[in-house]
Amino acid sequence: MGSRIVATGRATPRTCLSNHDLARHMDTSDEWVRSRTGIVQRYVMASGESLVELAAEASRIALSRAGLKPTAIDAIVVGTISSDYGFPSFGCQLQYQLGLDTIPAFDVAAACSGFVYALSVADASMRAGDWGRVLVIGADALSTMVDWNDRSTAVLFGDGAGAAVMVNEPGDRGVLSSLLRSSGQYWELLAVRNRGVQTTIDSEARRQSADAIRMKGSELFKLAVKSMADITLQVAQRACVSLQDIQLIVPHQANLRIINAVAQRLGLPPEKVFTNVDRYGNTSAASVPIALDEALESNRIHDNDLVMLNACGGGLTWGANLLRW
Ligand code: UT7
Repeated sequence: MGSRIVATGRATPRTCLSNHDLARHMDTSDEWVRSRTGIVQRYVMASGESLVELAAEASRIALSRAGLKPTAIDAIVVGTISSDYGFPSFGCQLQYQLGLDTIPAFDVAAACSGFVYALSVADASMRAGDWGRVLVIGADALSTMVDWNDRSTAVLFGDGAGAAVMVNEPGDRGVLSSLLRSSGQYWELLAVRNRGVQTTIDSEARRQSADAIRMKGSELFKLAVKSMADITLQVAQRACVSLQDIQLIVPHQANLRIINAVAQRLGLPPEKVFTNVDRYGNTSAASVPIALDEALESNRIHDNDLVMLNACGGGLTWGANLLRW
């Protein structure tokens, strides 16, 4: 038995901000953001929008593509660090939005690695025979945690949700191997001290800079390149697969320069690496499932292809999943 992603979906907030829009409010430029990150625009939450509702929308799309009713789902695992509430979990709020009851629903907090972590947790429980059909979500809204006066972080993040329906079935398709890693010694490289009040770009309330995202970007950059390259190689080796046999890498979309550096380190040509950071920015745990959904939509993935997902984020956390599609 193996666990296979049978359908995906995605949802983003309505407000789309270009680099030019941001340059009207802070000392930055389209040229700087594009050349340092590859980002051209991002979707951000506005007052009154709910990330749980976006996750529900992404889930409904994925479920409908899978031909399943929400009631067919045995568990919900959410990679997120963006719940509006300290508790209950985002997973429980999403379960309620989907009209479900009783099934286990919980969060996995691994920052930008959240979806890769959640997928691995779901896969392990499915292999153990606990669940037959699982909704795996990556959802984050880091734009609500930035200090809009801090140009070094405010331009980087976008918000959104991605969903995948996983089904346990016989055969050799599905998750072949996953590895998860953390290194708490680096926790201060990317952190938010306090979730604080809910702030959006259009809200009157402003996040105190002490409660906003703080990042040591250049140190994180180097660790992200090394950890994502190393874990990708390790997962491939664990599954006895050569990197050259992988049809598509779907990496966490933090920075185009990080993605390119990882590909270069692994000797992979750019056409084997999916990118959409230009249109979404860094959506944290949502980035891998949103990218996966777009890769499927644009026909970049075919049945039986080998697909590698990888990510690195605050914690430090990192991980990868190798799938036979
Ligand atoms: O998803 C989780 C993992 N996240 C990451 O992996 C992010 C990793 N880090 C990065 O992507 C990059 O380090 C950044 C994009 C955050 C920054 O790029 P960088 O090439 O490392 O730039 P820097 O931080 O070294 O800053 C260079 C300059 C500084 O000015 P000085 O000191 O050289 O005069 C900054 O003040 O760029 C300035 N700067 C900006 N200028 C215009 C920083 N942010 C901006 C901005 N617009 N938005």
